[in-house]
Order: sequence, then C-alpha cells, then structure tokens
Amino acid sequence: MNITQDIKYIGVNDRDIDLFEGQYIVPNGMAYNSYVITDDKIAVMDTVDARFKDEWLSNLEKALDGKNPDYLIIQHMEPDHSANIRHFAEKYPNAKIVSSSKSFVMMKGFFGTDFVENQIVVGEGDALSLGSHTLTFITAPMVHWPEVIVTYDSKDKVLFSADGFGKFGAYDTDEDWACEARRYYIGIVGKYGQQTQALLKKTAGLDIEIICPLHGPVLTENLEYYINLYDIWSSYRVESEGVVIAYTSVYGNTKKAVLKLRDKLTAKGVEVVLNDLARCDMAEAVEDSFRYGTTVLATTTYNADIFPFMREFINHLTERNFQCRTVAFIENGSWAPMATKVMKGMLEKSKNLNYAENEVKIISALNEESEKQLEALAEELCK
Ligand code: FEO
Repeated sequence: MNITQDIKYIGVNDRDIDLFEGQYIVPNGMAYNSYVITDDKIAVMDTVDARFKDEWLSNLEKALDGKNPDYLIIQHMEPDHSANIRHFAEKYPNAKIVSSSKSFVMMKGFFGTDFVENQIVVGEGDALSLGSHTLTFITAPMVHWPEVIVTYDSKDKVLFSADGFGKFGAYDTDEDWACEARRYYIGIVGKYGQQTQALLKKTAGLDIEIICPLHGPVLTENLEYYINLYDIWSSYRVESEGVVIAYTSVYGNTKKAVLKLRDKLTAKGVEVVLNDLARCDMAEAVEDSFRYGTTVLATTTYNADIFPFMREFINHLTERNFQCRTVAFIENGSWAPMATKVMKGMLEKSKNLNYAENEVKIISALNEESEKQLEALAEELCK
C-alpha cells in the first residue's frame, strides 16, 4: 500500500490477540504499523510485534524491491513495535539503527545489545537526510514511554506519530475512529495529558498533511478533527455533555436506584450512559468517565470498604489523572454504610472535582427518604 509516492505501508494486522498489552480486549484485533521511505537512502519506520516477524520481513522485502535499507528508525521501544530490531539487524547488518539515547539503553535491556556498531543517536530537532526527504525528530517523552520520538518528513508533510493518534482495531476495520481511539488513548496514555499537550504544541507549527501512527489507520483528511480530539483528551476537558452512571449491584437494589436515576435524567433530556462495572469492559467505562462531564458512582459497602469492581474502577480513574469533572455518589449498605466516604477518600488527590451536593444513601433498598434523595440528585444533575 502506498501512502505517498515514496512512502509504503509494511505493517501487519493481528486478529488473534486476546488482550492488547495484557489487559485491553480488542474485538477487532490490532494493527502494528510500519513504513518504508524510499529515496536516495531508504529508511524503515519501526518494526512490529514478535509474532509477525516473518510477515513483516516479507512485506519489507517486497517494498525494498531488491534494494537494501540504510536506516531503521525506532520511535518507540515497546515490544509491539520494537520486537524485530534484532531480526532486522541480522538480515541487514549494514543498516544503521536511528533512535533516542533512552531507546538504546532499552535495547540493551530487551536484546542484550545496543547495536553500538550501527547506532545513530538522535535528539530533539535532529535531522536525517534521505535525499529529497529530510526527517526531523521530535522527542515525545511519555507518549507513551520516556524514550519516544516522533518524526516529521517535510517533503511529503507526514508526521510519523508513534503511538499518538493510534487506535485499537486491525488496519482495515470499518468503525468509528473516535470510539476506539479514545478508549486506546485514555487507557494507554491518559495519565500523561501534560506530556501529550507538550507534543501537540511542538507539532502545531508543522505543515502536516498525513499522520502515520503505529496503530490504526493512516489519517489523510480532516486532520483538525483528530488533533482537536487529542487536544480535548489530553487537557482533560469535557468532550460530550451527559452523565455516566458507573455502578455495582449485588442483589439488584443499587441497580434499581441507578435505573430510576437514569429514567429521571433521561426524562429531563440528559444523555445517560450506564456501566455495570462487574460486567462491562472496564476500559470502556473509564473512557466514558473521561468523555462526559459528570460521573455518578453507585456502589455497596463491602468488607468495610467498597465493592471490588468499583475500587478497581476508581483506581483506573485516579491513576490516569481523572480531573475537572462533576462526581455524584450513591451508596448502599445494610449496616454501617460507608461507601461514599471510601470513594471520596480514593478521589482525594484528584484535581478540580466538583462533588454533587445531593448524595443518596440506601439502607438495603430504596425507601421514601432515599427516593427523595434520588429525585434531588436528578434535579441537581440536569441543571
Ligand atoms: Fe504501541 Fe506503546 O506501544
């Protein structure tokens, strides 16, 4: 597949993977992208996951059309992209490996060698000429690991964006970009909003016509749309108005309250997303709370703490720097209810959270008093 006259796609689709990075379900698989730039010199952009060594090397060989590569540019050392560096080096021993100094340290860790005979270390603003194409390297620490660089090709106006602008799903999956790109970004890079903002600022002045990420489709049109979403996500701004209700329910009484709240809000014209944390995809639930302005947390007191799925959910939020949102609380407890206190304690270090004034306390099952609290909460949340 040609991206431009000189840039070819040589990535692979992974349709067998069960959990990406050991935790994310990917019903439509995963793409590991890699590219070849052919000029007076030939550069290969990244490798792919270890399980696709033969397919990738074969794609590369076809793209090279009998020539030898001069450079392997490694933008990110996570093994979904770096696993085949050694195989590449064995097949093309004269090619130089171009990467950040931190990457070469990691190569030693992964491969027992940092390819010292072949290495070219690049840093912020360094350029590599391939002939008519000049590649400029931009550091992108923590988007998604500390060693990451992204690469700008000024001739074809292409930004090779590493994990940035990637998404879950095999390359040719026909699905909404934002949904799986958001789940990917919030899940994988979400904690590092500040660093993503820094990268967006560094690339803002570049004339970019094509974005070539390491996962998901190459972006060729309407780039402002994707860049704007990245700006919203990485600055923790609200993307969509609406209320997420994240809940756990042991015998259905908390669920009954949650469904009532949903109906009340929906009747008032509020968009509501329900997530049963014991049954839904946790990454999707986390994504929703970063997308919408308000999250209602509803759970039971359990072992003098909260129900385990809610604990896990709040941990996912806080470790990703959840902030700048309204949070409301519904607790249930048959004796000594303390779920709201525990949840608030877990959110203590989160910045700019606005707690709803109205809280709902259920003693085992809804009664007249808790019904009133539910109504008051619904009133408050639709304002
Ligand atoms: Fe796609 Fe952070 O590796």
